Amino acid sequence: MIKPDLIQIFKKTFDTIKIPRTFFAPGRINLIGEHTDYNGGHVFPASISLGTYALGLKRSDQKLRFYSMNFPQAGMIECDLSNLDYNETHNWANYPKGMLLYLQKSGYEFSSGADILFYGDIPNSAGLSSSASIEMASGVLLEGLFDLKIDRVKMIQLGQKVENEYIGVNSGIMDQFAIGMGKKDHAILLNCQTLDYEYAPLALKDHVIQIINTNKQRTLAGSKYNERREQCDQALIDLQTELSINSLGDFTKEEFDQYKHLIRDETNQKRAKHAVYENVRTLEALDKLREGDLKAFGKLMNESHLSLQHDYEVTGTELDTIVQAAWDQDGVLGARMTGAGFGGCAIAIVEKDKVENFKKNVNAIYHKAIGYDATFYTATIGDGAKEITREVLK
Ligand code: GLA
Repeated sequence: MIKPDLIQIFKKTFDTIKIPRTFFAPGRINLIGEHTDYNGGHVFPASISLGTYALGLKRSDQKLRFYSMNFPQAGMIECDLSNLDYNETHNWANYPKGMLLYLQKSGYEFSSGADILFYGDIPNSAGLSSSASIEMASGVLLEGLFDLKIDRVKMIQLGQKVENEYIGVNSGIMDQFAIGMGKKDHAILLNCQTLDYEYAPLALKDHVIQIINTNKQRTLAGSKYNERREQCDQALIDLQTELSINSLGDFTKEEFDQYKHLIRDETNQKRAKHAVYENVRTLEALDKLREGDLKAFGKLMNESHLSLQHDYEVTGTELDTIVQAAWDQDGVLGARMTGAGFGGCAIAIVEKDKVENFKKNVNAIYHKAIGYDATFYTATIGDGAKEITREVLK
């Protein structure tokens, strides 16, 4: 994909001849371990080459000016360093504002305002974490422009805090972590309780990861995301009446089956079952990948989708249709929804030589059932958020 000349656009937008510094934060896919992060379990995401570019220059006054090429209708959004409160009319710019405010609250000092331009090539509301990508792009940009030394895990945690407290989505740590710590050609196995992590090479031999966008948009704020979280919290409270556990991630499958009767509500029991079983599947998946057993890895992905469909109930017709269509194709080792669900993207591990047929067939089935096309991208696993040079921009 040809990128627009971001530096020229920056100069024109902010009417300057100075050259801004450029930063990039990727989006992410999650291979397996869905809705486990806020349940004290493991996740297995990877950062992708699609993401958010942030270009910035410090100003000499206290003003902040934000412009996004993805939301031109929102125009130039302006505010002052002394008032970074959430403001509905500031639209998408609440993400960088939130990062700035939470960094300020953590003791980091900003001597002046800044002009900042954003451009993202990651589809919005597609489950690839465009919002965490803007947060982390803002984080590395502010760190760079103002010469701060911010511990990366601290920046990740602040990103999550912005999402939870400032934006109002009760999401876990996975997205910011995957984006902040991503590594080229690797996935990250993260223990969301301890934040211990390890990188695993994504050696897929003659296979690639296809990202399939259902083009059914969803926003976490408007979805059942927070409700799922509350259901799991309630299940844990019920279990804690007799057991001394910190989170659903503490259980083996056998232990859970032995004690699940303590969860009073049947729906909450299903939600908790998914969280426990999915966590176990995620650890198994890491082993299978390390052993080079891609077939077994794919099977775990399929089981993950079925659990998200039937026990967690976060898939919906579009995702189920597309994943079923993927399962039915030649050369597919596994497929599942990725991210929060309720629309957005699925991923599939597909034999390289079969990719063209895969896309054609899956889209035909999807279009017939749903009435519009899906979009396909081949995932390239890249590095986490960082400053980039002008050469990379070309
Ligand atoms: C969203 C959230 C993550 C995680 C996933 C589901 O992407 O931001 O924290 O909970 O959903 O696994």
